[in-house]
Amino acid sequence: MKKVLVTGATGFLGKYVVEELSQYGYQVRAFGRNRKIGQSLENSSVAFFQGDLTKQEDLTQACQGMDIVVHAGALSTVWGPWEDFYQTNVLGTKYVLDACREDGIQRLVYVSSPSIYAAPRDQIAIKESDAPQENNLNNYIRSKLASEKLFKDYPDVPSIILRPRGLFGIGDTSILPRVLKLSQKIGIPLIGDGRQLMDMTCVENVALAIRLALEAPQASGEVYNITNGEPRAFKDLIEETLRGLGYPITYRKVPAPLLSVIASSLEFLYNILKLKGEPALTRYTYCLLRYSQTLDISKAERDLGYRPQISISEGIEQYVKDYRKH
Ligand SMILES: NC(=O)c1ccc[n+]([C@@H]2O[C@H](COP(=O)([O-])OP(=O)(O)OC[C@H]3O[C@@H](n4cnc5c(N)ncnc54)[C@H](OP(=O)(O)O)[C@@H]3O)[C@@H](O)[C@H]2O)c1
Repeated sequence: MKKVLVTGATGFLGKYVVEELSQYGYQVRAFGRNRKIGQSLENSSVAFFQGDLTKQEDLTQACQGMDIVVHAGALSTVWGPWEDFYQTNVLGTKYVLDACREDGIQRLVYVSSPSIYAAPRDQIAIKESDAPQENNLNNYIRSKLASEKLFKDYPDVPSIILRPRGLFGIGDTSILPRVLKLSQKIGIPLIGDGRQLMDMTCVENVALAIRLALEAPQASGEVYNITNGEPRAFKDLIEETLRGLGYPITYRKVPAPLLSVIASSLEFLYNILKLKGEPALTRYTYCLLRYSQTLDISKAERDLGYRPQISISEGIEQYVKDYRKH
């Protein structure tokens, strides 16, 4: 039975990864800071390890005796000081790589992010090789790019990088909850005709892709985009979700240039006045709402045998059912 360390196990994606791997016969060491959530994951094939990604000794200890590592832990948000992202996402990944090298780990799967492709333009069927060298749209993106670059200094650690886009599912605390809050407060911001393409991924499919990446021998050293492979228009996704929930659908038409100015001005104010919290709109969120962005996942299909198991509509249905229970 293979032993796997999963960082970020206490997070949204991590919990699905722990479940997927334990179901497929792995012995899981679930790494995170939140003891309550960590202990709730424990069973005969999952043990919690309380640790902090910013502490090298925690990762050194956590990796000991492991065969493989999934590094999904990160400070995963659109706004915050560089130092925080640097400590957790860049140094944290370096500590994971060091520990993997020291322990002769057989495979490391790193969960990066396609936010590194973000740009103020439509982008269709982005390939892994289209990643820019630099992208300073926000500090999260900078940190994910910087962490990916670390891998070239560790050719001896057999690694795979995944870039899964727009995760949603039961337990999501980021995308759908924000949309629902907006819809209740002011209505859904609609730019243009709302036909911009969104390329989302059911969280269960990402957990599947991670397991496949652990098991695909030929994929070492490669980077893979992961999505559901079914880009949908922004308006269609919103309407399917809100209709399912029985919510009224109210749009707020906003001119794109105005939104762009608001996002830049808010970021400027937050930076200059060192305000706490995050701006209601950032340049990154503006790009997500305004432009189509889809990823080419043919490389993951070919090398990993990745086939999404849950469709977008099934994912929305599950989410709606669960939401209605609370
Ligand atoms: N959600 C998305 O749409 C999306 C899209 C692309 C890529 N990703 C990537 O997928 C991964 C998982 O994202 P998610 O949505 O599941 O995020 P999440 O729910 O915010 O979970 C983040 C995880 O990272 C852990 N973590 C953060 N700082 C830590 C620290 N200093 N020490 C130890 N653990 C720490 C958290 O553990 P504790 O809370 O226990 O400390 C938690 O388990 C991240 O790498 C993210 O960048 C996410």
